[in-house]
Amino acid sequence: MLISHDDIPQVSQDFMNHTHSEEVTLINALFTEILAYEKNQNTTDTIDTMYQAWIEHTIEHFTTEEVEMMEAVFPAYPIHKEAHDTALKQMYEVFNAWKETREIKVLKTYLIEVVPQWFMAHVSTMDAMTANYIGGSITPSGAGMTRF
Ligand SMILES: [Fe+2]
Ligand SMILES: [Fe+2]
Repeated sequence: MLISHDDIPQVSQDFMNHTHSEEVTLINALFTEILAYEKNQNTTDTIDTMYQAWIEHTIEHFTTEEVEMMEAVFPAYPIHKEAHDTALKQMYEVFNAWKETREIKVLKTYLIEVVPQWFMAHVSTMDAMTANYIGGSITPSGAGMTRF
């Protein structure tokens, strides 16, 4: 397991916690398949399908948060949106590098060294503040938003 569900930072909006939990399940499942692939226990097709499913879930995840921010007129929307766009771009870049090279190390390194750290930092800062704003528990300054 790459990320423990118990370690996911909880925010004040349940729909976001639910999505984050689903995302961690997909990341962990992909990581398991990456380790299996290293031992020649599955195929590139399996990895491709799971990675594609993770991308699709991430798009849905990010879009839902962005719509909520727009509806709530969240002042830090551009910063949060930019963080989503950058993360998604990197997901595609890594996926493309994997499809070009079929070097499993490309995926493994990304999943170990980038994804968990990014996910934890993003959820505990931008998502947490966004959830509080949507819930009406913070003022619309956007102060304290850091770029993760
Ligand atoms: Fe999120
Ligand atoms: Fe987010």
